Amino acid sequence: MNDVVVWSDGQVHAPDALLVTAVDHGITVGDGVFETCGVDRGQAFALTRHLERLSRSARGLGLAEPDLDLVRRGVAAVLEALPGAGRVRITVTGGIGPLGSDRAPSAQTVLVMAGPGSAVTSARAIRVPWVRNERSAVVGLKTTSYAENVVAVAAAHAAGADEAYLANTRGELCEGTGSNIFVERGGELLTPPLSSGCLAGITRALVLEWAAQAGLPVREAHPGELPFEVLDESIAGRAPLLLASSVRTVAPVVELDGVAIEPGSLGAEVVAMYHERAAGDLDP
Ligand SMILES: Cc1ncc(COP(=O)(O)O)c(C=O)c1O
Repeated sequence: MNDVVVWSDGQVHAPDALLVTAVDHGITVGDGVFETCGVDRGQAFALTRHLERLSRSARGLGLAEPDLDLVRRGVAAVLEALPGAGRVRITVTGGIGPLGSDRAPSAQTVLVMAGPGSAVTSARAIRVPWVRNERSAVVGLKTTSYAENVVAVAAAHAAGADEAYLANTRGELCEGTGSNIFVERGGELLTPPLSSGCLAGITRALVLEWAAQAGLPVREAHPGELPFEVLDESIAGRAPLLLASSVRTVAPVVELDGVAIEPGSLGAEVVAMYHERAAGDLDP
């Protein structure tokens, strides 16, 4: 793991350094929030938006506002220490806590890491039977309680894919384990609304904003407009898919449940638009 560096308390460490205690509430119960940014030309892409979401997630979880200047210093330090990094990971936890779910006052744990990662030009996905709970207490928050995603993406890897798509409890299309989804249908590119329980992805938001500025027909679907079964249309060749995530960026899904899917023409336009706009502004 020479390709990962960790910043904590003003110092950069190797990834095997012991930096948190066994009773850190992030470890005992997943009481923490995180962000993952892509890296472009040595800078964390869209860092301001990621820090805003970090604060939002912390507020939603009832954690104190993270010290964002401190986090920015950590980001600069890890990118200096690992110039070839492809991703930056920021983790903030409640710090030292009891062994149960209740909290005790503590200084937060703040860790910033840099490691490998790169944009992709295609993705392969499967559908999984597990669901996102759009009525969860932590819906839309990027918490460190990601075990459901660990299980789902492991199922994807076991099937020779790299992403797994989930419905919500109402049977609507929601998102992947670490990405948002866009569906090309009826001449439009649609993404599930936030009411589906998906994360408010930063890549998703940039696609929506930049496409609107370019006059492309890309929008949030209306609630219920994208049932999970829309993916049957994708498999039948009628609804091409795009994946959107910070590290992988925007790319066509070329295989679903082992069946090849042709990329869509609007999707291809959106991929090109995304890369052109992202190249022009590292902190949009
Ligand atoms: C559950 C989930 N959905 C969507 C995304 C995509 O969000 P972003 O574009 O901000 O990376 C992520 C990112 O890791 C995620 O974890």
